Amino acid sequence: MYSIVPETPEDAWEVEALFDLCFAPGREALSSYRLREGVAPVAPLCRVARYEPGGFLGGAVRYWPVRVGTVPALLLGPIAVHPTAQGEGLGAALIRESLHVARDGWARVLLVGDAPYYGRFGFVRLDGVEMPPPTNPERVLGLALAEGAWDGVAGEVTAWT
Ligand SMILES: CC(C)(COP(=O)(O)OP(=O)(O)OC[C@H]1O[C@@H](n2cnc3c(N)ncnc32)[C@H](O)[C@@H]1OP(=O)(O)O)[C@@H](O)C(=O)NCCC(=O)NCCS
Repeated sequence: MYSIVPETPEDAWEVEALFDLCFAPGREALSSYRLREGVAPVAPLCRVARYEPGGFLGGAVRYWPVRVGTVPALLLGPIAVHPTAQGEGLGAALIRESLHVARDGWARVLLVGDAPYYGRFGFVRLDGVEMPPPTNPERVLGLALAEGAWDGVAGEVTAWT
């Protein structure tokens, strides 16, 4: 049994350790991190999944605000599930629950990731949306939380500053 709850400041070091475990060394050199530097995450959307009893951290997701051209968007990620808990639906639960909360106040989400995984949540490739280089455009995916929210939206993704 696990529960998904908002991340607290006390969770932060454990979440960082989980991301270090799940991603290749040097993850913070990825271009998406340039969009996060000096910008606070969207706290109400950052979630952790903890197993009971014991409170083992099974997974975590964070979101940052960004701009695409001039319009606001959410950047989903990082998201990671502990290797011992992968394939049990935790990643899907973290994504679905956080997206449900995101619908209250946000119109569109983007991420850099594998289309075969994120397609199941409705993410599709975004044409004309440019993440900071080097980013494979095939991996730039978006989801409209409000109908038509990505229509006509294009341009560079920039930090929320
Ligand atoms: C990607 C990740 C968050 C998915 O979480 P999870 O809890 O293991 O995933 P779920 O249980 O919700 O879904 C499992 C399904 O997704 C598939 N899947 C997982 N990662 C995938 C990927 N990168 N590409 C395609 N399919 C993937 C699994 O094969 C499985 O398929 P099935 O339902 O047909 O059996 C997790 O595997 C992880 O932390 N990976 C390492 C870090 C990472 O790559 N993060 C994402 C960066 S874009």
